[in-house]
Amino acid sequence: MGQPTPAQKDRDWWRSAVIYQVYVRSFADGDGDGTGDLAGVRARLPYLAELGVDALWFNPWYLSPMKDGGYDVADYRAVDPAFGTLAEAEKLIAEARELGIRTIVDIVPNHVSDQHPWFRAALAAGPGSPERELFHFRPGRGEHGELPPNDWPSQFAGATEPVWTRLPDGDWYLHLFTPEQPDLNWAHPAVRREHEDILRFWFERGVAGVRIDSAALLAKDPALPDLASRPEPHPFVDRDELHDVYRSWRRVADEYGGVFVGEVWLPDTERFARYLRPDELHTAFNFSFLSCPWEPGRLRTAIDTTLAEHAPVGAPATWVLCNHDITRTVTRYGREDTGFDFATKAFGTPTDLLLGTRRARAAALLSLALPGAVYLYQGEELGLPEAEIPVDRIQDPMYFRSRGADPGRDGCRVPLPWAAGMPHAGFGAQQEPWLPQPADWPSYAVDRQQRDPGSMLALYRAAIAARPVFGDGPLAWLPAPDGVLAFARGGGAVCVVNLAPEPVDLPPHSRLLLGSGPLDDAGRLPPDTAVWLQA
Ligand code: GLC
Repeated sequence: MGQPTPAQKDRDWWRSAVIYQVYVRSFADGDGDGTGDLAGVRARLPYLAELGVDALWFNPWYLSPMKDGGYDVADYRAVDPAFGTLAEAEKLIAEARELGIRTIVDIVPNHVSDQHPWFRAALAAGPGSPERELFHFRPGRGEHGELPPNDWPSQFAGATEPVWTRLPDGDWYLHLFTPEQPDLNWAHPAVRREHEDILRFWFERGVAGVRIDSAALLAKDPALPDLASRPEPHPFVDRDELHDVYRSWRRVADEYGGVFVGEVWLPDTERFARYLRPDELHTAFNFSFLSCPWEPGRLRTAIDTTLAEHAPVGAPATWVLCNHDITRTVTRYGREDTGFDFATKAFGTPTDLLLGTRRARAAALLSLALPGAVYLYQGEELGLPEAEIPVDRIQDPMYFRSRGADPGRDGCRVPLPWAAGMPHAGFGAQQEPWLPQPADWPSYAVDRQQRDPGSMLALYRAAIAARPVFGDGPLAWLPAPDGVLAFARGGGAVCVVNLAPEPVDLPPHSRLLLGSGPLDDAGRLPPDTAVWLQA
């Protein structure tokens, strides 16, 4: 045993990394056409290095008709011209690595774009053809096949839209998401071969990791039974066949030293942990922490459950507060319901942004002190709120698929403000950004926050830099008053978060390292505030 060697530490970087999610379309616009691009990211690499992140996760940058923000991929080996070229992606990966930053790409294995050559060929080849076997084509039910083959609800916006679309030739095809995202048939060996080849393609270009989109949905019960018949196991969520797929992906990753992070939404912690067995995925997003309300007992339970479910499989936890699908943290924490649930998203929810921001600052210190990897979504380090997008500018299919009930996810995808005094807050010089920026966007601009030691950006920079003070030991809770979370990890630092309604005394300490807000006049920790202390 003993201390890990530098080589081991380097190989295990992902166990404790800070990983920054780049939604390329909204990060920085290098060519001024209103859409973010790889040139914009390359120009801002020094900003990311200064922030101190270890890796970047890029949402899909592949060739795509953008019916679902790039999660409708037409060619997994090409970069969309709106973002740049493959050669630029290679340069970006190399330049980031020179700054000590690794790259994670996003693979979408559940479905392809309806413009993908496989699907076009399947349409052309007609019913009963081998080309259609790569997808889920079925005849309809009813006298003339006019009813969809089963009763599955859309993964977007519940039961309002079907997951089947009928073609003029009479066949129906399955799409758990939009009609422009036909589901692949993972029981077909060509589908498995193709995806392993795609993994190799990107590992060979120097990426260090792969995020797996909708990772628990790929396998389908070939009988496609109605959900109303209560089939066991579930016909498309978390099926056992999937583990065989990921074991063989793991063998590919191991050849390159690559790592996986799975998008696995599963309430059952035991089933979730099965994806993280030593020969499967390295990590998965912690959606139970993300969805957890800002409430001391619930948060402590979410943390304990997370650590307990990961321990038996030896996988590190991840700590996630938001991403490109989720209501932004400062907004969520400023609402009456501080948890997250797609089903309850609505227009016009009252929000106290000052309160939400105070809590989000405390949550930043909490998550960066916990053992494991932390994901940070672009703009979170600026404290950006969720934007209300005028309905005539909404692009997200979730809004349309819910027939306008769900505001959709554009509100967390608004182009970043870089410079307060520049056109479009410095996102790009010429064209209007693809989503409108709210009028107060310049007040969140990077250049302003860089000059302000009390800014969210300053807090994130300081916390990421100071994070090693916690050491790499397991979490140990410390005695604390009601409503207060306090813990250490063997490195001499203590994290204290006050979620109680009253200020509390700090435990004995030699030095205050960092605070999410000021102490009160009596030196106590105010509500919704966190500190890092030297014990
Ligand atoms: C994942 C992505 C989301 C996308 C969906 C379909 O949930 O995070 O943005 O719409 O998969 O690919």
